[in-house]
Amino acid sequence: MLIISFEGIDGSGKTTIAKLIFERMMKIIGNRKKVLLTQEPFTKEISSLIEKLGWKDPIALTLLFSADRAFHINWILKEGYDVILMDRYIHSTIAYQSVLGVDEEWIRLVNSNFPKPDIVILLDIRPETALERLRGKIDRFNFSEKLSSLSKVREKYLELSRKERNFKVINAERELNEVEEEVWNIIYSYLDS
Ligand code: TMP
Repeated sequence: MLIISFEGIDGSGKTTIAKLIFERMMKIIGNRKKVLLTQEPFTKEISSLIEKLGWKDPIALTLLFSADRAFHINWILKEGYDVILMDRYIHSTIAYQSVLGVDEEWIRLVNSNFPKPDIVILLDIRPETALERLRGKIDRFNFSEKLSSLSKVREKYLELSRKERNFKVINAERELNEVEEEVWNIIYSYLDS
């Protein structure tokens, strides 16, 4: 089983890139390997609970995202996939919830039963560019608050990438096809190993 996670701040383009990589992969190994493209949060129930509770308590958020992950992983393991493309995974909780003050080691402990990703594709982008892409989805009132929180999340992701060897940092400010090509080349080298 090969687990590839796509990480990055909101607006980094990871959902688009993960989809393009999935389509490419299906063409190449889809006839002999079971490939999954999936996304976290996974369960509708936990996502709507998080929305309903208003994203307030960072400890509760950590537990909810991790509980969602437990259901997700259980389901994946039961289905027996060979390659799993995860649009967000454990490092999203580490990055987003630790900047809200939750202890990183505790987040890792809560997530310690889940399989580790083999490759973490970090789509790195300046929060200004990301928010520009998300214009319309974020109201002006929220803009500066969002900019400062995404800056902290980005720094945390970059810090993780310096500590963990399986991180691949991709400059996501470029044209989509350039980003896709670089990500594809990295992933392709893992496919038959
Ligand atoms: P997305 O559609 O950009 O992936 O949005 C999901 C949001 O949920 C994003 O703002 C990040 C947040 N999130 C966390 O804070 N912690 C987590 O563990 C996960 C999976 C997502």
